[in-house]
Amino acid sequence: MTDLDSLKSELLTAAHAAPDLAALEALRVSGLGKKGRITQLMKGLGGLDPEARKAQGQALNLVKDALQSAIEARKAELEEVELERRLAEESLDVSLPARPREVGLVHPISQTMEELVAIFGEMGFTVAEGPHIEDDFHNFDALNIPPEHPARQEMDTFYFPEKPDGSRMVLRTHTSPVQVRTMQSTKPPIRVIAPGRTFRADHDATHSPMFHQVEGLVIDESTHMGHLKGTLIEFCRAYFGVDDLPVRFRPSYFPFTEPSAEVDIGCSKKGGQLVIGAGDDWLEILGCGMVNPKVLENCGIDSSKYQGFAFGMGIERIAMLKYGMPDLRPFYDSDIRWLRHYGFVPLETPSMVRGL
Ligand code: DAH
Repeated sequence: MTDLDSLKSELLTAAHAAPDLAALEALRVSGLGKKGRITQLMKGLGGLDPEARKAQGQALNLVKDALQSAIEARKAELEEVELERRLAEESLDVSLPARPREVGLVHPISQTMEELVAIFGEMGFTVAEGPHIEDDFHNFDALNIPPEHPARQEMDTFYFPEKPDGSRMVLRTHTSPVQVRTMQSTKPPIRVIAPGRTFRADHDATHSPMFHQVEGLVIDESTHMGHLKGTLIEFCRAYFGVDDLPVRFRPSYFPFTEPSAEVDIGCSKKGGQLVIGAGDDWLEILGCGMVNPKVLENCGIDSSKYQGFAFGMGIERIAMLKYGMPDLRPFYDSDIRWLRHYGFVPLETPSMVRGL
């Protein structure tokens, strides 16, 4: 056996036996690398005579090719083994149940507000907003509620400390000040709703110190009581989803409207079970009226040219009635079980086209 034959068999044996890719690479470098044994022998060819150089060169090339092939073959084998190992180790069990994804729900107050916006939006109303901290003028005076008026005492107002000039800011007791701000800042025709937070110092099963109302205001040259009735009947039927819902207007009193009315919807309360739209009982749901000309004047609107109507209602109350919630307090308890039960699926914004 020539030296070359034994080198060849040594290298090929090592290639077949290489335990891993790193050993194989080391072998490649030791044989075919810059200072590898075959490379060295190639370099030595220059010193031979032409005949011998040719024969030795061919022989060396054969060894080189054989080693390259052996390395390639072993590499493929090792990679296959590695793949098998990983497949076994990283096995994926597709029968495992998917990890549950946490989905938040829309709070019933937000849902109800979106429903109100959808219904009144369809009737051409836009949404107006105002500050939670109000002055006396916007919360009371402009709305024809002077200091000695009993309505002021009835509202259980949260007052801020007195200012040097003796005035006191309040947490708005209703959304009606947004009417005032809208009339001060916009020229008629006006058609807005103002949903938002309101505050009164009152706390029991049906009252919370913070609650929500929605206000409505329509002002134009010839807006009359018929428009008020049509708008609110349409609203009640759309909101409660009862096409022939009986709606009754009962004379009432509010300082900011004249005449004023309260709106009742038909229901049945038999056996302690409330069914809206059936039976011969009534349930009060909102207050309304023709805007008192004094209020128009207080807000800088010419009452000889313009008139209109306003309405206001409690959002918790209409949500409780529609969704059968017996108690007001859980609205603000953040009890996840209550929220899961009464919450609404997000991304399904109420719309009059798709239904609420
Ligand atoms: N502001 C009234 C309240 O808080 C609700 C209300 C009644 C608003 C009649 C109105 C209205 O705009 O016309 O009880």
